[in-house]
Amino acid sequence: MTSPAGGEPVVAVRGLTKTYAARRGLRTRTLRALADVSFDVGRGEVVALVGESGSGKSTAARLIARLVPATAGQVRVAGRDVLAARRPTLDDRRRVQMIFQDPFASLNPVHTVGHHLARPLIRHGKARGRAEVAAAVHALLEGVGLHPAAEVAARHPHQLSGGQRQRVAIARALAVDPDVLLADEPTSMLDASLRVGILNLLREQATARGLAILFITHDLASARYLADRTLVLYAGHVVEAGASDAVMTAPAHPYTRRLIAALPDRHARLVDAARSASSQGAGASPDAARAGAGCPFAGRCPDVHERCRRELPSLHVLSPGRRARCHLHAPASGGLDG
Ligand SMILES: Nc1ncnc2c1ncn2[C@@H]1O[C@H](COP(=O)(O)OP(=O)(O)OP(=O)(O)O)[C@@H](O)[C@H]1O
Ligand code: SF4
Ligand SMILES: [Mg+2]
Repeated sequence: MTSPAGGEPVVAVRGLTKTYAARRGLRTRTLRALADVSFDVGRGEVVALVGESGSGKSTAARLIARLVPATAGQVRVAGRDVLAARRPTLDDRRRVQMIFQDPFASLNPVHTVGHHLARPLIRHGKARGRAEVAAAVHALLEGVGLHPAAEVAARHPHQLSGGQRQRVAIARALAVDPDVLLADEPTSMLDASLRVGILNLLREQATARGLAILFITHDLASARYLADRTLVLYAGHVVEAGASDAVMTAPAHPYTRRLIAALPDRHARLVDAARSASSQGAGASPDAARAGAGCPFAGRCPDVHERCRRELPSLHVLSPGRRARCHLHAPASGGLDG
């Protein structure tokens, strides 16, 4: 899935795959956490990865950040093949920053906010000397909406609200001037009222800095609100991709339709739609679906046909930028009877 913005994408992911050996009783089988995933994220663009628990969203982020080794595939960041090098350089680490669901867990309770921001600034040579570092820390805090900066810098993480802590985590990621921000469920621990503020902040930063953001969420409403494009993951496969509005208003894949049907009204769109959808589904779980051949959604699909059980569908192009991995969308000669 390429960036419609044109030009060299900031992140280009090709055929990214991760398998784990999973034990069940005496048998060991291969679990595909991520299967042949490809997409681009352009400058200033936000791309959402959505899907229920276990679909492979965090695995994608961990592979791009090189927190775990990939089984196969390529990741280019600003044109550099980051998986090819044996170890990431300091500059590779600078380019790709990550924020997580629980900012409290990633902030050291004994250090002040100022200390958390000063460290990456100094380590990556972004500021030198007390006065310059203090000014850079204050500018970062102001930039993420934390005022008055000097007062916030002197506080410890437990003296901040959840929303403020997430803003500090974002400021820390931005301190090193990254190309890519991997945001793994950054708002799922926040109240709806605080959530919108963080989403707006991410959008502002993407636009102002030309930052490429991969936004991981199980909340379709947040994906539609923030992301230019959305990829839907199921059992490690991209099953649908396209402009977020198009995916949400005219879903093409039976799984995406199920996710959206599980959103009964506007209010409920701010709850965990993907998880509720997964609990309604009959048939094989995504984990079981990983084991066999055929369409990973076959065990739960209302439209399943014999072909679906034996043949993995391609990611068919529906229109420019729109794709769905389903035999229903195969070119006329194929379809379910093929
Ligand atoms: N270290 C590991 N060893 C074995 N299996 C793993 C490991 N890490 C992840 N998995 C499996 O890979 C699959 C994808 O996990 P992942 O964490 O990427 O899902 P996710 O979409 O982020 O889910 P959630 O919404 O719950 O965060 C799951 O089946 C998970 O159990
Ligand atoms: S390929 Fe078949 S089982 Fe899979 S989503 Fe399409 S119709 Fe359903
Ligand atoms: Mg996850």
